[in-house]
Amino acid sequence: MDFKTLRKEYETSGFGPEDLADNPITAFEHWFAEATDQSPGDWFEPNAMALSTSLPSGRVSSRWVLLKGVDADGFRFYTNFESDKGQQIAANSNVALAFHWPYLGRQLRIEGNAQKTSRADSEAYFHSRPRGSQIGAMVSRQSHPLQSRGQLEQYRDQLEQKFEGQTIPLPENWGGYLVKPNRFEFWQGRLDRLHDRIVYTSAGPQRWKKVRLSP
Ligand SMILES: Cc1cc2nc3c(=O)[nH]c(=O)nc-3n(C[C@H](O)[C@H](O)[C@H](O)COP(=O)(O)O)c2cc1C
Repeated sequence: MDFKTLRKEYETSGFGPEDLADNPITAFEHWFAEATDQSPGDWFEPNAMALSTSLPSGRVSSRWVLLKGVDADGFRFYTNFESDKGQQIAANSNVALAFHWPYLGRQLRIEGNAQKTSRADSEAYFHSRPRGSQIGAMVSRQSHPLQSRGQLEQYRDQLEQKFEGQTIPLPENWGGYLVKPNRFEFWQGRLDRLHDRIVYTSAGPQRWKKVRLSP
């Protein structure tokens, strides 16, 4: 495939700093509501976000995770604390998130600091998941080598038997992270690559500075 010929014009209407709420979390909520309302179908997950983490050695990794909560404190997702991402966050809690809503011609980038949520928060979310996902979280030593798929499925079957009719306990190594944001960028694709980019940077507790960046 000739990637150079793949070209799309973004014919969306633009916006300026005055069109976005002073608080970027409020602005996020407005954009997220539009992303959900206008989602192209069940197959698309508007809450999927790329999470980038890195090690002090310089290794950088990105992967998708699902946003499972937003409030004034920040953005929550759930995972295995001993996974690659968990180990990277333990070594360097600075992370980045990115959303792409192609049908709106929008990208949203967030930078911040990740910390584990409370055990009570992880418990509440864990037990809200389907039973199969709860077992799955317990079965998987996420990001660690596995001899075969059969080994995984055998362990799943054993745990299903073991916990039949019982509540599945939250594994010690599983739970939530809260990303406390310190930078946001709202990006709207425009004609001729003259996109709109509005950045918020933290200017102290609950205070944000908003600027327009060149595309
Ligand atoms: C759309 C999508 C959503 C995902 N959501 C999650 C999630 O919320 N939590 C999670 O642990 N992994 C999720 N994954 C799997 C991760 O991308 C990744 O494969 C896994 O967490 C292991 O990453 P790591 O080895 O970098 O820690 C998702 C994958 C996709 C494609």
